[in-house]
Amino acid sequence: MSDYPRLARQLEALLDSRDWLTNAAQACAFVMQEIPDLNWAGFYLQRQPETLILGPFQGKPACNPIPFGKGVCGAAARTRQTQRVDDVHAVADHIACDADSRAELVVPIIVDGALWGVLDLDSPRPARFTSDDQAGIERLVATFVAASDFTG
Ligand code: SME
Repeated sequence: MSDYPRLARQLEALLDSRDWLTNAAQACAFVMQEIPDLNWAGFYLQRQPETLILGPFQGKPACNPIPFGKGVCGAAARTRQTQRVDDVHAVADHIACDADSRAELVVPIIVDGALWGVLDLDSPRPARFTSDDQAGIERLVATFVAASDFTG
């Protein structure tokens, strides 16, 4: 099991830029490096109404754009609730970017009360993400938000 308090401290130390783009690139590389059994980790950003655009990520080239009405990422954006899926093959409107992906965790990112984007993690291992992982990844997202300036 990952030591999320330690990971949050390490991420905070790593994010020494205020630039959200630099910090997002560093944050997804850090997550991919430190959290076992992931095949994709990255950001989708809301830069158009009701649409998620692919941002910094680690892994295979991914689907873009994603409307709020579709998939696990769309559900996270629409509801502003973290989506934790044990087996994406059981989700009817899951957007399959990579057939190897089985479990998915998508955390909405809220900045100044508005949905800024989501952090999406995929794993080839079914039921990879526990409620502890969810709380830990939400903590890492909060660390990223606190470290970043989103005005530029
Ligand atoms: N599976 C996601 C799409 C993004 S990729 O996994 C990188 C979804 O259903 O929203």
